[in-house]
Amino acid sequence: MADHPLIAHKLTVLRDVNTDSPTFRRLVEELVALLAYEATREVRVETVEVTTPVATTTGTHISTPRPLVVPILRAGLGMLEGMSKLLPTAEVGFLGMLRDETTLEAVTYANRLPQDITGRQTFLLDPMLATGGTLIMAIDYLLELGAKDVTAICLLAAPEGIDAVRQSVGDRAEVKIVVAAVDERLNAKGYIVPGLGDAGDRLYGVV
Ligand code: URA
Repeated sequence: MADHPLIAHKLTVLRDVNTDSPTFRRLVEELVALLAYEATREVRVETVEVTTPVATTTGTHISTPRPLVVPILRAGLGMLEGMSKLLPTAEVGFLGMLRDETTLEAVTYANRLPQDITGRQTFLLDPMLATGGTLIMAIDYLLELGAKDVTAICLLAAPEGIDAVRQSVGDRAEVKIVVAAVDERLNAKGYIVPGLGDAGDRLYGVV
């Protein structure tokens, strides 16, 4: 859990039912940039030589293969801008997934990932880790394609969702979840309580 007063402040404004869509979108972007700072702490780097106007020294570059960032559409798209600000050289893939509101099961409607991501560091963007169904399916896609490690960046998580991801992944891979807050529970409709409502609707309006 990323524990920082700026994160807590922005999250509180996000939760507020009176926060409008433009403000919500801007705050998500800002929050993700702060969470991405934590999430990329172990991004792989290499030592390079750099010539300053004064002297030559050694520095650090993000190494290749480049990290892969995967927003889970629709709501994860609202997190891409904030992530790209910190990691502009990352490659971006897309997963379109939605939750069947009757069964609460995840359904994939779009999959635009590289064929082979063997050894790549991957960052999944999904604002709400509720039942965990969507994230589990997305993690499975990435591991099947050879991802080395997966970091999920979420705004809010329910304890039930974290447990479900932990159980599903087991010792198959190293999966990290970076989240601004872990809330109390899920309600009967699978919403995070107290949460912030439907993240996609609040970002983009009800469609
Ligand atoms: N998805 C959301 O957008 N909000 C929740 O509370 C749970 C899932």
